[in-house]
Amino acid sequence: MRKKVIAGNWKMNMLPNEAISMITELAPLVKDTENEVVLCVPYTDLFYSLLTAQGTNIKIGAQNMHYEEKGAYTGEVSGKMLKSIGVEYVIIGHSERRQYFNETDETVNKKIKTAFENDLKPIVCVGETLEEREAGKAFEIIENQTQKDLDGLTEEQVANTIIAYEPIWAIGTGKTATSKDANEACKKIREKIVETYGQNIAERVIIQYGGSMKPENAKELLSMSDIDGGLIGGASLKAESFAEIVNCK
Ligand code: 13P
Repeated sequence: MRKKVIAGNWKMNMLPNEAISMITELAPLVKDTENEVVLCVPYTDLFYSLLTAQGTNIKIGAQNMHYEEKGAYTGEVSGKMLKSIGVEYVIIGHSERRQYFNETDETVNKKIKTAFENDLKPIVCVGETLEEREAGKAFEIIENQTQKDLDGLTEEQVANTIIAYEPIWAIGTGKTATSKDANEACKKIREKIVETYGQNIAERVIIQYGGSMKPENAKELLSMSDIDGGLIGGASLKAESFAEIVNCK
């Protein structure tokens, strides 16, 4: 049985004082869950979040990083820097980074490798646009992204990669993929991994769904055979709604 990973992605929201309050409120609400609880917070919240989450079952992640270890890359943060303060997870290749910041499958692939070199757990995002879905290309797009993003990783690295299927048309729009469609897409991703790495490795990969996941739809989505968790934007900003998702059985 794969453990479910419920991760919040705060995106560019929450000041340090808000992060501290939210995590303080969240901790007692999620303390009994068997799921892995992760909050991916802005860089400026990382240290405060790590301190506040100490002694709880809440893990802290970043939302991006550079693939180089150090050097003349003004404004960037390296995997080594994240690791040095105790960060455990990092989102890589979110569609917003692909759309607004020139993230490509090539840079995503490099970043995943750097994440593993620094003992960070990557949450790698893939997903199709509405146009691509309507053209019947959704599976082709996500299979292609999966293949390119994971290229050259060892079996063990692939098994430890978390993949978030996030259809772009469902992000922040209130539109959720049906549980059947979401599960089918997650299954396709797993099948793609089977092709290169075999069934045993693919069975270990955690595949999340993301896109307008909220307390009202989380239970059904999370009960599907190939959906092993969620990557949650809007509903992760409030302790109560995020806890409801974490605790739904
Ligand atoms: P929403 O939950 O706000 O739709 O965002 C999803 C997302 O992009 C998580 O990474």
